[in-house]
Amino acid sequence: MRRTSLITAALCLAGLAGCGKHDKPNFIYMPDMVYSPALKAQEGQMLMPPAGTVPRDFSPYPYKTNPEEAGRALKNPVQPTEQVMARGKVMFETFCMPCHGPTGEGDGTIVPKFPRPPSLQSDKVKTWTDGRIYHVISAGQNLMPTYATQIDPVDRWAIIHYIRAFQKAKNPTAEDLKAAGKQE
Ligand code: HEC
Repeated sequence: MRRTSLITAALCLAGLAGCGKHDKPNFIYMPDMVYSPALKAQEGQMLMPPAGTVPRDFSPYPYKTNPEEAGRALKNPVQPTEQVMARGKVMFETFCMPCHGPTGEGDGTIVPKFPRPPSLQSDKVKTWTDGRIYHVISAGQNLMPTYATQIDPVDRWAIIHYIRAFQKAKNPTAEDLKAAGKQE
């Protein structure tokens, strides 16, 4: 009896046999890279960005909850050159026409699977400023989602020039007709 415990104690000291609990091995022969000291990516080392930080090359749209303010403050900085009109047409036909239809009447191909949008030929939209329309594209409006991530600001303004063009084409003012007469 005494002898066996002596032997056990000797083995324990040598670290070759388990004494008591076995949840940890006593001795690991050549662990190689099993227990790597490397930190896992993002393990407790990430610093949180200070409040209000924005990613590079991203300017947040400042009028999210204030369409009226956007309508007053934002002016169309893009000149309606031939190129801009062509660009506006392509962008409108890509992003807006599926719902709003080719001249904004609300007769896009997705309707009536998607609820018919209001006409862009309405007096309401015709009398809206460019900035107010820009707001809808940038922030969305009820069922209409925002296009801020898909359409660059310059292209949004180009689309608005194109909308103005088809509004005029449908309902030319006396001035538009005079201007058209002068061109011919
Ligand atoms: C997925 C369908 C869809 C697409 C795509 C879409 N719209 Fe709309 N749009 C709507 C709906 C629906 C409304 C009405 C939202 C509401 O109920 O206020 C709307 C509203 C609007 C209004 C406000 C009209 C009003 O009388 O209040 C404007 C302006 C407008 N859209 C412009 C655009 C432009 C410009 C594009 C392209 C960049 C576009 N929309 C793309 C569905 C769409």
